[in-house]
Amino acid sequence: MAPPNHRLVSAAIFLALLIVSPAPAMARAPKHSRQLPPPSSKLVEQVCNGSAITNRRFCLKALSNPEAAAATSLNGLTKVILHLAATNAQHTLDIINGMITSGQTTSPAIKSCAGNYQEVIRSFKMVVGELSEDPMTANYDVKVVGDFIDYCEKALASGNVHVPQISVGNRFVMNYVWMGFQATNNL
Ligand SMILES: *[C@@H]1O[C@H](CO)[C@@H](O)[C@H](O)[C@H]1NC(C)=O
Repeated sequence: MAPPNHRLVSAAIFLALLIVSPAPAMARAPKHSRQLPPPSSKLVEQVCNGSAITNRRFCLKALSNPEAAAATSLNGLTKVILHLAATNAQHTLDIINGMITSGQTTSPAIKSCAGNYQEVIRSFKMVVGELSEDPMTANYDVKVVGDFIDYCEKALASGNVHVPQISVGNRFVMNYVWMGFQATNNL
């Protein structure tokens, strides 16, 4: 019979693996199939083909959902992008907060990333409100979101902290930043 704390030990090992694993559980990156998903609409195709897009595959995959397909204007599609961006960033923030509140880490770098992610989420939501009134400001502000990810990256690097979930989350946010930038370029 396993000792009663067997499950706790397994859970601890599982958590440790999650942290060091090169393929973190949250990495739902569109890598499974070699084929690009077909664009879910002409608008999606236009945005994902844009020159600011750094990862066309990610863009097409992220926008292969009914909400994106149903968007009939660039403004509407931009809202979908920003909503997905905020949700994705919130997911990474939840992971970071979980690491902090569980006492798993006391790293100041990770705490600073938590603050940066709060700003990322706040900014994506703020840009939604700017779309109709002031597309140029929206275009500028969505790009500035990338700065918060820079701060997080630099804090991690200077603290010599390696957390794959945060690195992947940072890459995801940057992909969404360029998608938002591309979409607001033509508003
Ligand atoms: C987007 O790019 C793909 C691949 O380069 C191309 O086949 C397609 O015609 C382009 N679509 C638009 C709308 O530019």
